[in-house]
Amino acid sequence: MFITFEGIEGSGKTTQIKHVAEFLKRRGHDCIITREPGGTKIGEKIRSILLDPRSKDMDPLTELLLYIADRSQHINELVKPLLTEGKTVLCDRFYDATMAYQGFARGLYINLIKRLNKLILEDLKPDITILLDLSPEIGLSRAWKQIDKGTRESIETRFEEERLSFHKKVREGYLELARLEPERFRVIDGSMDENQVQEEIIKILLESDIVK
Ligand code: TMP
Repeated sequence: MFITFEGIEGSGKTTQIKHVAEFLKRRGHDCIITREPGGTKIGEKIRSILLDPRSKDMDPLTELLLYIADRSQHINELVKPLLTEGKTVLCDRFYDATMAYQGFARGLYINLIKRLNKLILEDLKPDITILLDLSPEIGLSRAWKQIDKGTRESIETRFEEERLSFHKKVREGYLELARLEPERFRVIDGSMDENQVQEEIIKILLESDIVK
């Protein structure tokens, strides 16, 4: 089973994914958490280039191709082999992030992104995608508080430093993707407190028949 988690900065994905893994492990799933960008040694190197605030002059196409390169490594080295072994893979961001950030927010051609994703993914698709939706004002303020407290990497702030209008486009992009694929997406109000969000996700997983 392949479950992906999406949302803007500060939406709580990384916290919730850990709760979901604990819940699924208790129900006997062999669960692995991974992330994009990252998840492999090569991917973590690509991640540091992508998220470093000193990479602020990065050309949008370079950015897109680095995310695609990271994904190609990640799915071939890690995700596909794990799924073949029957593991449950929980992934913190996947191809919807490229559509929302590089497509809707940066304004690169959606069709180009779709074609690149198709090239590397072949028939791989998440069984379910949890979208934690909230306003960028709340999300960014949470993200910066975590950075100030040191619970979020201060060397990975290139996207947090983007303008509010950029994050608004990311949010709208995600919501549009969810509207286009209602059978795969589940949208949850990410502004609720941590426990409420957790309960909501678990309810959805139990209802979806994906989790036994
Ligand atoms: P995160 O691991 O803290 O969520 O940071 C990853 C950042 O990378 C986040 O700002 C979203 C961005 N991103 C893209 O722009 N495109 C992508 O395809 C992915 C996977 C992430």
